[in-house]
Amino acid sequence: MSDRYAVIGHPIAHSRSPQIHAAFARQTHQDLRYDRLLAPLEDFAGTLSAFFSDGGCGANVTVPFKEEAFELAHEHSARASAAGAANTLSFREGRIVADNTDGAGLVRDITINQSFPLKQKRILLMGAGGAARGVIQPLLAEGPASFYIANRTLSKAQALAERFGIRACTYAELAGAQFDLIVNATSASLQDALPPLPPEALAGSFVYDMVYGAEETPFLAFGRAHGAARSSDGLGMLIEQAAESFFIWRGVRPDTAPVFEQMRASF
Ligand code: ATR
Repeated sequence: MSDRYAVIGHPIAHSRSPQIHAAFARQTHQDLRYDRLLAPLEDFAGTLSAFFSDGGCGANVTVPFKEEAFELAHEHSARASAAGAANTLSFREGRIVADNTDGAGLVRDITINQSFPLKQKRILLMGAGGAARGVIQPLLAEGPASFYIANRTLSKAQALAERFGIRACTYAELAGAQFDLIVNATSASLQDALPPLPPEALAGSFVYDMVYGAEETPFLAFGRAHGAARSSDGLGMLIEQAAESFFIWRGVRPDTAPVFEQMRASF
């Protein structure tokens, strides 16, 4: 029987992970099956333990269970511990091992796929929720010149800034500031809204939205209208975090470029 994997979330029907992992498996000749699993909001733990006792080898975890996945695991990678959240679980000898590949996926998409090295760059991260927290340490590891985190609710940005040794600010405080890379890790795009970033901060920068889809996100359109030098949605990050999970489970690194093209064409 094929080794079994799954992505667990709530909701889950929209998840593209099964298509991505199926493409990786075909490409690398790995015999595996990868499904979507809807967990009830109040019983992620039950869904996970049923999957593992049923022979599951590994799981990806998505909204809103990444923090709970981290708490339930017996062992944690350094990057999962830095994020306080897990998107990749492996079942090894009866123990749950947690990792977090989101930040690695983002960094790999920016620095390798898009050839934009982050060393000595000025980075602004917008948002201070789970999506933001998961990528701070991997971005910092690239050696940027400066790292700001802006959030509507300043206290949440301050808490992360203290934990990671970076600088927190409100959006209004960014009037006149300039950045090389601006990453939108807020959930604003999902509501067709925009963080209130002063438009001059966008000039000449690379704007990156973690959200992806057929339409340009409001943030990327805003960037284009205000002189951003380049822009990207989060499809590459999605595929790279999946590739990193695949590598953890199977020990093989898939070629992401053809899968990216295939997924882009499927929207
Ligand atoms: P996630 O796990 O996706 O990060 P979250 O933990 O709910 O979700 O965090 C959502 C983030 O998006 C927060 O930083 C939130 O700002 P607040 O902390 O001030 O709530 C941010 N956010 C959501 N909608 C926004 C909007 N319209 N403008 C600016 N920021 C927004």
